[in-house]
Amino acid sequence: MKTTEITVGPDRIRLACDVTGEGPALLLVHGFPLDRSLWRHQVDALAGWRRIAPDLRGMGASDVPGGGYSMAAYATDLAGVLDHFGVDRAVLCGLSMGGYIAFEFARRWPDRLAGLILMDTRAEADSPDGRRGRDAMIAKVRAQGVASVADDLIPKLLGPEALGRPEIVGRVRGMLEGTLLDGMVGALEAMRDRPDSSALLPALAAVPVQVIVGEEDRLTPPADAERMAAAIPGATLARIPGAGHLAPLERPAATTEVVGRFLARV
Ligand code: MLT
Repeated sequence: MKTTEITVGPDRIRLACDVTGEGPALLLVHGFPLDRSLWRHQVDALAGWRRIAPDLRGMGASDVPGGGYSMAAYATDLAGVLDHFGVDRAVLCGLSMGGYIAFEFARRWPDRLAGLILMDTRAEADSPDGRRGRDAMIAKVRAQGVASVADDLIPKLLGPEALGRPEIVGRVRGMLEGTLLDGMVGALEAMRDRPDSSALLPALAAVPVQVIVGEEDRLTPPADAERMAAAIPGATLARIPGAGHLAPLERPAATTEVVGRFLARV
């Protein structure tokens, strides 16, 4: 695997990116507040595909601008990643916030999608309560630092089994605590203000779509995934037993297998 640093977009943001393999492109987009290492198993295992896993702006080893965070900005960065690697069309796989960004990408550049994997995510915008929760979290990290939200967030991100595995908890805590304040606040604001993508779902039938959800996901539970899959004609749904919200990290082999099966029929 090669890690490269690339510069994308009108504001010349530098993104850290793992790239490996030859073949059609698979673009792996992590969630909040995580980084590209979420996809380690999938990047290592999915031979026959050119696996591209960037750190989003404001997270991981990518630039952390003081402002300019929105679903539109993240999606434009992804288009810049594809341009950089000379990729016209890709299968886009987004987890949670990565899924929100995938919806924005699909709205803007439907012709650049060869397929879509929506993992532990939802199409709806935040509810009024959800938006208040974002504001409370922004206030807390501003006052007490990013690490102050780890103990609240980790039990929501991981399923019961993963919570008992120190190496998994440690990896999530490491990603979370490695996020700088501006990147975390920017992502929270972008998620709070994101548009509702429910009306887009029927149009996604133009490409193959796989929905994946951890059976123990509390943030975007299986019932939500079922509703989302049902609204996309032709979409298939897979549940990952024993996984919470972070299926690719908690159940890497099972998640990779589902992704691999989907890629084989794209
Ligand atoms: C994520 O995993 O990206 C976040 O939990 C999404 C969210 O907070 O809505």
